[in-house]
Order: sequence, then C-alpha cells, then structure tokens
Amino acid sequence: MASSQARTIHCKIGPSILNSNLASLGDECHRMMEEGADYLHLDVMDGHFVPAITFGHQMVQSLRKALPKSKCWFDMHMMVQDPDRFIKDMADAGADQYVFHVEATQDVDKTIRKVKEAGMKVGVAIKPKTPVEVVLPYVEHVDLVLVMTVEPGAGGQKFMDDMMPKVKTLRKRFAELDIEVDGGVSPDTIHHCAEAGANLIVSGTAVVKSESPRDVMVKMREAVRVQIPNWKNISS
Ligand code: DX5
Ligand code: ZN
Repeated sequence: MASSQARTIHCKIGPSILNSNLASLGDECHRMMEEGADYLHLDVMDGHFVPAITFGHQMVQSLRKALPKSKCWFDMHMMVQDPDRFIKDMADAGADQYVFHVEATQDVDKTIRKVKEAGMKVGVAIKPKTPVEVVLPYVEHVDLVLVMTVEPGAGGQKFMDDMMPKVKTLRKRFAELDIEVDGGVSPDTIHHCAEAGANLIVSGTAVVKSESPRDVMVKMREAVRVQIPNWKNISS
C-alpha cells in the first residue's frame, strides 16, 4: 500500500504446504506451481507463539534452490514470537514476503521497518481474537494484511466465518489493499471470503489433498474474481 498510484486488484491463490507430504516438500512445491498456484504460503512455527514447530530459514534456502525467484513467490507466514529475530535469515534464504503477527512483537512499526530494510515485502497478521482496529494504524505502511480464519497453529481446521467483518472493514476502508485470508478456506467457504473482500487466498488441505489442485484453485480464483466489482458496495 506504499504507493499512492491507483492499482488493479487481483485474486491470487497461495497453497499452504503445511499439510502436504513433507518428505518430498520440494516436489510438492513444484507440483503446486505446475497446477497453477500464484505463490506459495510457507508456515513457520516456533513452538512458542504457537505450540507446533515447523521449519526455519535453512529449509527455505533449500526450497529456494529448487524454485528460483523468477518462478515462485515465497510468502512467509511467521507464527513466531519476536519476529525481528528471523528477518535477516529469511531474507538471505530467499523469502519474498514476511508476514508477522502483531501479537508477537512489542514494536510493530520497528518490525515493519526492518522487514522493508531487508528487502522483503511486509505484511501484518491478526489472530481470531485480535480486533481489526489493532492493524488499522499500520495499513498504510504494509503491503498486505492477513486475517486469520482459524487459530494459527495447524492446518485442517474449520473456517471461522465470523472473521469476515474484519475483512469487510479493511476492504471498505482500503479499496486497493491486499487482504489475505488463511485457515479452512476451500471451495465450500471461499464465497464468504470473496464477498467480504479478500483477494489473497491461502488454502492448505483443500488444495494439497485434492485430486485436482488445479480445479480447486481455478474455482476459488473465479469465486473471488466475480465479486471484485461488488467490493465498492461493501457495508461492514
Ligand atoms: C494455520 C496455517 C495455515 C494452514 C492452512 O496455522 O497458518 O496456513 O496451514 O491450512 P488449511 O487450509 O488446511 O486450514
Ligand atoms: Zn498460514
């Protein structure tokens, strides 16, 4: 949102590879891109901010070797306490975008600044219990806002449609903002996200476990695309 120039908003689908076969993660990432993913959503969990642990920058570095920057955008969802700690390592490893939780840092402005200085796009994320008002002061300084639609920590949970008022509030105020949703998003729940105004769609289980990830992604992208013209009429 840094630029004041008008931009056209697009829907992009970013599979979360958390629930894929982690024994062949590189192949799974390739498969998602070949099936038509717009970017990859990589979930980093530290065992503190959320109970589970996933992977760190070395894994990202290896994935980056398998999927060059020109071919694939890495959207890092940092479910970590004190996100400043990992900014440099992730940037060096080849991450493109660093999305951290406002609940996990004392000084959100400082973290935003550091991510930008490291050369990555920056996003702020909010957990289900965090009111959307908490992120409003930062929107002008970030590239995207992530509204969690499950409690962060695991794939395969039930979509929380009561998070949609947060998305609506953001879309109503910021017509050109990239708004990401993450958790339980599938062809069955995408219409909630699409009507509310989300344009960056993270989907884990529904995509990676599907017989045709391509069909699932096409369906969800189209569900959002048809709603984009209606976003100017959103009432929260
Ligand atoms: C949850 C993660 C999500 C998750 C999405 O903490 O941030 O990215 O893997 O997976 P599904 O779509 O299965 O909820
Ligand atoms: Zn995620």
